[in-house]
Amino acid sequence: MAFLKKYLLPILMVFLAYYYYSAHEEFRPEMLQGKKVIVTGASKGIGREMAYHLAKMGAHVVLTARSREALQKVVSRCLELGAASAHYIAGNMEDMPFAEQFVAEAGKLMGGIDVLILNHVLYTPLTFFHGEINMVRKAMEVNFHSFVVLSVAALPMLKQSNGSIAVVSSLAGKIPYPLVAPYSASKFALDGFFSSIRKEFVVSKVNVSISLCVLGLIDTDTARKAVEGVYEGYASPKEDCALEIIKGTALRQEEVYYDHSPWTLLLLGNPGRKIMEFLTVRSIQWDRVKSN
Ligand SMILES: NC(=O)c1ccc[n+]([C@@H]2O[C@H](COP(=O)([O-])OP(=O)(O)OC[C@H]3O[C@@H](n4cnc5c(N)ncnc54)[C@H](OP(=O)(O)O)[C@@H]3O)[C@@H](O)[C@H]2O)c1
Ligand SMILES: *[C@@H]1O[C@H](CO)[C@@H](O)[C@H](O)[C@H]1NC(C)=O
Ligand SMILES: *[C@@H]1O[C@H](CO)[C@@H](O)[C@H](O)[C@H]1NC(C)=O
Repeated sequence: MAFLKKYLLPILMVFLAYYYYSAHEEFRPEMLQGKKVIVTGASKGIGREMAYHLAKMGAHVVLTARSREALQKVVSRCLELGAASAHYIAGNMEDMPFAEQFVAEAGKLMGGIDVLILNHVLYTPLTFFHGEINMVRKAMEVNFHSFVVLSVAALPMLKQSNGSIAVVSSLAGKIPYPLVAPYSASKFALDGFFSSIRKEFVVSKVNVSISLCVLGLIDTDTARKAVEGVYEGYASPKEDCALEIIKGTALRQEEVYYDHSPWTLLLLGNPGRKIMEFLTVRSIQWDRVKSN
């Protein structure tokens, strides 16, 4: 009975509150109007589609990727579509000093940052793992480490704007996928890191939302080529996927699921994890941590 009162009721209330909230908030494209948004990996694929949606909504965008020419074209198209402003800064996300400078320059160009969309990716080839340590290191650098560096650099500006971070992940960051161990590991790392600091933000009253976006197979050229002949499955449209990431981020959802199968959300909802998280956070002596 005591257990019921102490744990079960609060948990139930949290769930009810959560569902009440998520059911009652609605996305409006105006939410992005005039917002200052960074999109990484915006030269093609889902990142490029996000840039186009944001442009149509009237946002300011600063885009990045390695290929200058491709970015130039995306920026021109964004201006045609109605972006409040559009710029690009080309560079490699294996280079952490670049990542840091990029955020500073983007902040200067727009006069602050409201939304940081972390989307760029190093895909690892679909193959058995035979000890390619360098591949693991590189995947962790590009897909994980640079995401952290970019977030740290943007956080002061995001705090000022009560902003948001979108972390683009994958089903392979929630369930282990064979044949892409380095990629899967880097995406799991994103969940571990960003879901941890989200809890810290709540306690330390940092009003910056973090949306972890869990995507199934999407019909980008890179993904299609990567899985060709090896993986059978429906690839969802990248335009729609890009929009769902923007919606979920604007609504400050903790997780955004986008997959062809309606079972994904249900099966990966993971109430066991949510209960364990709740109990873990409750058992920490937060005041002692803060006074250290
Ligand atoms: N497509 C899918 O099926 C799928 C499924 C699950 C999750 N996702 C996730 O969705 C996101 C986008 O995927 P996508 O399929 O749209 O990928 P994509 O079309 O291959 O685009 C990847 C973007 O990242 C940039 N990039 C790659 N390496 C980089 C580096 N070292 N430094 C800086 N930029 C780099 C690329 O530009 P440059 O080459 O010009 O640098 C490009 O703009 C990724 O986070 C991915 O993990 C995709
Ligand atoms: C951020 O949120 C706080 C608390 O809700 C509010 O007082 C402040 O005006 C907000 N700042 C911006 C820039 O929206
Ligand atoms: C956090 O910021 C959002 C967006 O500005 C605002 O709607 C919300 O009220 C803020 N929450 C708190 C607790 O300050």
